[in-house]
Amino acid sequence: MKKTILLILAAAALFVGCGKKESDNGKLLIYAGLMEDHASMAAKEFEKETGIKTEFVRMSSGETLARVRAEKENMSASVWYGGPIDAFVAANEEGLIEPYKSPVSEEIPAKFKDANGVWTGIYVGYLGFVGNKSILEEKGMEMPKSWQDLLKPEYKGEIVTAHPGSSGTAYTMLSTVVQSMGEEKGMEYMQKLNGQIRQYTKSGTAPGRMVGLGEAGVGITFLHDAIKYRKEGYKDIIIAAPSEGTGFEIGGVAILKNGPDLENAKKFVDWALSKKAQEMGQTVGSYQFLTNKDAVPPQEAAEIKDTKLIDYDFEWAGLNRKRLIENFSQVTKTSAPKE
Ligand code: G6P
Repeated sequence: MKKTILLILAAAALFVGCGKKESDNGKLLIYAGLMEDHASMAAKEFEKETGIKTEFVRMSSGETLARVRAEKENMSASVWYGGPIDAFVAANEEGLIEPYKSPVSEEIPAKFKDANGVWTGIYVGYLGFVGNKSILEEKGMEMPKSWQDLLKPEYKGEIVTAHPGSSGTAYTMLSTVVQSMGEEKGMEYMQKLNGQIRQYTKSGTAPGRMVGLGEAGVGITFLHDAIKYRKEGYKDIIIAAPSEGTGFEIGGVAILKNGPDLENAKKFVDWALSKKAQEMGQTVGSYQFLTNKDAVPPQEAAEIKDTKLIDYDFEWAGLNRKRLIENFSQVTKTSAPKE
């Protein structure tokens, strides 16, 4: 009898052990700042390769920052994946990031990663203008070619951009203008540009879609997003980059401090930095340049490779984010759309 009980107990232990083994790989929640379809593909691929149950929530940069700030004492996600690193720099200032130097970051050139492992770059995107060819023709307007062009009277009420308070794309625009023109002139410019704006959207990709649909003639957005929409069928889309030079993003990945799944977060960062994971983006229409030295950039990015860039200072942009957005909201009398 005793023997039988022991046997049953041993079998039960084995069964529980096996069951445990299956879920041993644990879980991971990601706050994703890149395109929804890209985040979804990455979560699925990572889960397939590692057995880690992976979920994500897509948010714009400013939204993620607000969320992790609110969750500081009780962080629900462990990774921040994608979106311009300006907001990562700001989050780190508030003690919200857990630095991690992935062994795979050896494959990422120094200019695309933080020396202390706060963030590591996964892609690079250039800011620019998106236009609807038919609408511009109908209204007898040229495609704008410079920041100054955007202030021309004919574009009044024709331009859509995201709000820098919610969108990393739009914060890249604000910071680019301020870094190029100086703070006083830059804010004057933003105030004038505000008079031209039809609508501030929440996410940075919305202007490209709206212009593609013909809801507005001109938008300010990352050029690779406009290329994605054009490829997806919005054939009237045309693009241009400001002749004065434009700003750019380094899209990053980082680990959130006190997130519930640190070890899995590290595994995800290692994965996200790899050549293989970076090259997967283009399969779902993400056409950014890539940071892994061995990764082959998408063909689609070739048409913008000669874009004139400014010497964008990410550290400065991150550290001055709050103040610039407050000033922007003040001079434009706007706040980030809630939706
Ligand atoms: C898109 C782009 C990314 C960019 C992100 C920023 O997903 O493809 O390159 O990092 O937008 O989003 P946000 O809504 O914060 O401007």
